[in-house]
Amino acid sequence: MARGAKRKGAGAGKPGGQGGGPGARRQQFLTRAARVFDVPEGVAEALMSQGRRQSLRFNPLSGASRSDFAAQLAPWGDALIPLDWCEDAWHLDLEAGKALPDKLFSSGQAFIQNASSFVPVLALDPQPGERILDLCAAPGGKTSHIAALTGNQAEIWANDALPARLPKLVEVLNLLHVRTASVSAHPGQFIDRFLEGPFDRILIDAQCTGEGMIDLRRAATLRYWSMERVVEYSRLQRKMLMAASKLLKPGGVLVYSTCTLAPEENEGSVNHLLTHAPDMSLEPIEIAAPGLIPARTRWEGESFDPSLTMACRVSPSRFLEAFFVARLRKDV
Ligand SMILES: C[S@@+](CC[C@H](N)C(=O)[O-])C[C@H]1O[C@@H](n2cnc3c(N)ncnc32)[C@H](O)[C@@H]1O
Repeated sequence: MARGAKRKGAGAGKPGGQGGGPGARRQQFLTRAARVFDVPEGVAEALMSQGRRQSLRFNPLSGASRSDFAAQLAPWGDALIPLDWCEDAWHLDLEAGKALPDKLFSSGQAFIQNASSFVPVLALDPQPGERILDLCAAPGGKTSHIAALTGNQAEIWANDALPARLPKLVEVLNLLHVRTASVSAHPGQFIDRFLEGPFDRILIDAQCTGEGMIDLRRAATLRYWSMERVVEYSRLQRKMLMAASKLLKPGGVLVYSTCTLAPEENEGSVNHLLTHAPDMSLEPIEIAAPGLIPARTRWEGESFDPSLTMACRVSPSRFLEAFFVARLRKDV
């Protein structure tokens, strides 16, 4: 991309304090959500008042054949909607999810995820034979999808900073027959001090405020939400992006994703990387998932690099949670 364009430093936001009680917090969140999607607050409220949405992914690493798996799903045919933009995946009615036979899950043939989680892995486009780092891997949904897409033929490094989350990560990877080169618990913001590069591809499915999972119909949904946390995570994300990009090989691909709305954690974090790592550039995301919209280039008076329109947001809908995905490549 053209390097001439001046990137205005988008700081970690100027949030002000939390202030007020739950009502004020709800209003603050709603006002921001409406601005993020450029819609009236009533529309934002409806967007952020939806139940958990589930999808089912077939795991070819289980050894089951696609035809046998499809045959097992046949009784629930009406409640399973195949995705035309992601192989081996179906949107799933919650009640049908409860009714599906346990053995599909206990044998590692099927895994439940929100369909938005498929977008960063498809954007990463992992290939057999590559060395791939999943920086924030637990509980392993995206790591296992990477392994499935590469037929277990990539050298996958699964990392997550929180040691308490590693047992679940290892359990999921074992259940889903994933072969990894390494499972580690290093802090992502210092990953270049712990791991040797280069990696062909790196996924940073970052720790974030998880605003995409907020359901405003639930009274306690904003209990852990605060602007302080938005700022705290945006700082962490910027450091993780900087550290991980140092481990990427020239020509390699880095995908950054979050399940949050906050531009400070999304466009702001990617803009920070573009500003401080001039060898990194955004690339378009060519995935035909519904509800993908270009990322923002402005937020609360701050300008981001114009190339940020190549990153995308997933608008929340019946089956997809709000997500942010950016695909970057290091110059050769
Ligand atoms: C959004 S979740 C990852 C979900 C996972 N990619 C999946 O698809 O199953 C974010 C993860 O980041 C981890 N994390 C938090 N702080 C971190 C840090 N400083 N470095 C690396 N990982 C961190 C959390 O433990 C959490 O598991």
